Amino acid sequence: MSHYFENDKNIKSNERLIYANIKNTELKFFVDNGIFSKKGLDFGTRSLLENINIESTKKKILDFGCGYGPIGIYLAKTTNFQIDMLDINQRAIMLAQKNADLNKVKVNIFESNLYANVVDKYDYIITNPPIRVGKDVLYKILFEAQKYLNRNGELWLVINKNQGAKTVVKDLAKLYNVKIIDKCKGFYIICAVNN
Ligand SMILES: C[S@@+](CC[C@H](N)C(=O)[O-])C[C@H]1O[C@@H](n2cnc3c(N)ncnc32)[C@H](O)[C@@H]1O
Repeated sequence: MSHYFENDKNIKSNERLIYANIKNTELKFFVDNGIFSKKGLDFGTRSLLENINIESTKKKILDFGCGYGPIGIYLAKTTNFQIDMLDINQRAIMLAQKNADLNKVKVNIFESNLYANVVDKYDYIITNPPIRVGKDVLYKILFEAQKYLNRNGELWLVINKNQGAKTVVKDLAKLYNVKIIDKCKGFYIICAVNN
C-alpha cells in the first residue's frame, strides 16, 4: 500500500473541493487521493492553526510538509509575511499551488526531501509533521529545522500523545526552549524556540 508521502503516480486522481472555516477565515481547497487528510482539514492541523501566535515583527514562514496547503495558505491569508511551502509529494505540491491560486494568495511552493532544497532562514517553521515516516525522519525534520531558523525563530508543530508527543517534547528540549501551548484532545501544540 502506498503512503501519502510517496510519489505514486498509479494512485488514481479524484479531486474534490472542501471548505474550511479557520477562526472566521473562509478557505476552500482541492484535495485528492494520495495526499494527507484527503477527506478535509485534519483536526491536528486545525488545532495548530487555531493556537498559533504569529508576532508581527517577524517576517518569514516555512510550512514544512505543506500537503494540499492549509497551513501556508491560511497564514498567507491572515498575515503579510513571506510564506514558503515545501513537500516531498509532487501531487501535494500541484494541489497546494492550485489552492493558493484558488484562495488568491501569493506563496512560494517547492519540492524538497527534508531540507535538501531549502536555502533561506525563517522566523517560523510550522509543521504537522509526517509520523508514519518513522522516528529517524521525524527527528531530522524537527532537529535540522534549527539550521533554518533565525535566532529566536520558532518551530511550531502538532503531534498526538499517542504518537509520542511527550517523548518529542523531552527530546526537543535538548536543543530548543520548548513550550506546550495547548493540548487539544490529545494533540499537543508545541512551540520550540531557537535561542
Ligand atoms: C501530516 S502531513 C501534513 C500535510 C499538511 N501540512 C496538512 O496539515 O494537512 C505531512 C506532510 O509531510 C510530507 N513529507 C513526508 N516526508 C517528507 C520529507 N522527507 N520531506 C518533505 N516533506 C515530507 C508529506 O508528503 C505530507 O504532505
